Amino acid sequence: MDMAIKVSGLRRSFGEVEAVAGVDLEVGHGEIFAFLGPNGAGKTTTIEILEGFGERDAGEVEVLGVDPAQATSDWRQRVGIVMQESPGEQELTVREVMELYAGLYKAPRGVDETLAQVGLDAEAAAKIAATLSGGQRRRLDVALALVGDPELIFLDEPTTGFDPAARRDAWKMLDCLRELGKTIFLTTHYMEEAERLADRIAVIAGGRIIDEGTPATIGHRDLAASEIIFALPAGIGEGDLPEDLLALAQPARRDGRIELHSAAPLADLGRLGSWADGRGLEVTELEVHRPTLEDVYLRLTAEAAGVAGANGNPIGEEVA
Ligand SMILES: Nc1ncnc2c1ncn2[C@@H]1O[C@H](COP(=O)(O)OP(=O)(O)OP(=O)(O)O)[C@@H](O)[C@H]1O
Ligand SMILES: [Mg+2]
Repeated sequence: MDMAIKVSGLRRSFGEVEAVAGVDLEVGHGEIFAFLGPNGAGKTTTIEILEGFGERDAGEVEVLGVDPAQATSDWRQRVGIVMQESPGEQELTVREVMELYAGLYKAPRGVDETLAQVGLDAEAAAKIAATLSGGQRRRLDVALALVGDPELIFLDEPTTGFDPAARRDAWKMLDCLRELGKTIFLTTHYMEEAERLADRIAVIAGGRIIDEGTPATIGHRDLAASEIIFALPAGIGEGDLPEDLLALAQPARRDGRIELHSAAPLADLGRLGSWADGRGLEVTELEVHRPTLEDVYLRLTAEAAGVAGANGNPIGEEVA
């Protein structure tokens, strides 16, 4: 596949801190790619290099066929950007800021149409940008990234500060962009967002990519065991389970409930059901948990933090 983004051996240090320590990644045209990782992992440093705003120490980078360090205005026309920090233009109204940005593009989208798409109405459009709430400002940032009708959009934590309804609206908007064939490079700390939107995910920690895959398969999530939790009537315990289910029982149980660690939850539920039926027992409080993306993410980043001491690269460090 012809890739929208190709990165290999990317490195960037700030003094002692190796913010990006050898990153390789590829993003296909039309893909939504989520770049996840703890605070200070190197996401913004990487994304700013891809946007042509950050310098690098080493590595090959190609974005829409061009090295962003040599970005031309033609290339800039094709790329939309939401920075982690909102830019200035505080004294202008929302509509004025939008018109200013639209004026930079050869074929901009309509200002009002774009504002409506991010949920900013005529009343919001008349406000001075500095007076917007955090979530409204973030919507304006997204609108600014879209107004040039770019084919590739970088979104560094675009929904931070969004209320739950606004986040759902943003997801719908990103779905529309996907349908239009846009390529989206997204960072987020909301695992539900990555799960819902991403075609592919990479997790970065300590400047290195520690895993990559689809939301369903990353961290061997598809092969990881599910948990089956249930309660049996008083007087019936875990020890009464048939051998094959007993072998799956966890030593630690919550609230006297029984917990099975199952690689084949459907089959094990079937066996549990037949066993209970055969003995006339009622299984209650039944829950089946598949590991969430957040479970997998926390495991991967904890494992990486465990090896971080060895290479001295800090993980999970707060950005100053
Ligand atoms: N301009 C800079 N000068 C010095 N250090 C920097 C600079 N920019 C980033 N860093 C350091 O590089 C590391 C990576 O920072 P980066 O902003 O890329 O992380 P991030 O993954 O985007 O984190 P967050 O989730 O908090 O946004 C951090 O240790 C940070 O302190
Ligand atoms: Mg960042």
